[in-house]
Amino acid sequence: MKKIAVFTSGGDAPGMNACVRAVVRTGLHRGLKVDGIMRGYTGMIAGEFQSMKAGSVSGIIQHGGTILKTSRCDEFLTSEGRAKAARMLKEAGIEGLVAIGGDGTFKGAHDLWSEHKIPIIGVPGTIDNDLYGTDYTLGYDTAVNTALDAIDKIRDTASSHERLFFVEVMGRHSGFIALDAAAAGGAEAVVIPEACEGPQELARLLGYGKKRGKKSMIFVVAEGDECGGAAQLAEKVSALTGSDYRVSILGHIQRGGAPTARDSVLASKLGAAAVQALLHGESDKMVGEVKGEICLTPLPQTWKKKKPLDTKLLELVKILAT
Ligand code: F6P
Repeated sequence: MKKIAVFTSGGDAPGMNACVRAVVRTGLHRGLKVDGIMRGYTGMIAGEFQSMKAGSVSGIIQHGGTILKTSRCDEFLTSEGRAKAARMLKEAGIEGLVAIGGDGTFKGAHDLWSEHKIPIIGVPGTIDNDLYGTDYTLGYDTAVNTALDAIDKIRDTASSHERLFFVEVMGRHSGFIALDAAAAGGAEAVVIPEACEGPQELARLLGYGKKRGKKSMIFVVAEGDECGGAAQLAEKVSALTGSDYRVSILGHIQRGGAPTARDSVLASKLGAAAVQALLHGESDKMVGEVKGEICLTPLPQTWKKKKPLDTKLLELVKILAT
């Protein structure tokens, strides 16, 4: 293998830049040529390839977002789109790929490998932490800390106004961010797709808290249709209890910002491991870290198998909130 390329795809996540840096510098260190593909699969189809030198990734490890840009590409969902991308890669002499992204990115990567046999290794890059085969995904730790910072600030207002707040966090169909942010922020309740507390239960918790003299409370709600979202839930709880409330939807601030040290370190390790895996002839796998060990998981397993949530932590949040 003489030339590889790296790209970021799907929702950006803090740590992606650190990972691009690790891929580029490990590749160069191992005597490879390394290209950066701009805008994920969109740029792959358009042949937007840039030769990367060590200096191309200088001063980016501490920055959020991705210097390679990213996109969600509909054309790549078609076999024609993937064939076009494969043609572009072959013309550019690219013999291996590192794909940094989430489950959508990995589905595309798996199809590209199955249809065109271009070796590809995935690195888990998503704030959602919803991929099997790694304890943590890049960006997750930063997103939890961003959500926690917001919850801590909302706590000041909730307490000053003696109000009930519903704080909605991201996570798509999983409750990892919500659970950790709720645990760290001392939330009075957490509502996640894996264990949706309905309005009745929240109304009960509210009544119980009030009886104990609580004047303000924070309920952390994971986004997603499963639980109805914070706004709908809040309305239902209010209809049951007559309580005044405010809803705060944290949104995309959770995707931005400088990566935490934990995310930068993980990104560096996994970026380097992805290049090593390609050089060892691996493909169609994701590099992850499980219990401190770097490991490879077949790409389809990363989205087909469900990573279990820490149910003991969920119980603990409930116990500590009472
Ligand atoms: O996957 C990351 C994520 O931020 C999810 O938590 C969220 O549901 C989704 O992306 C939002 O996507 P978009 O930025 O495309 O609206």
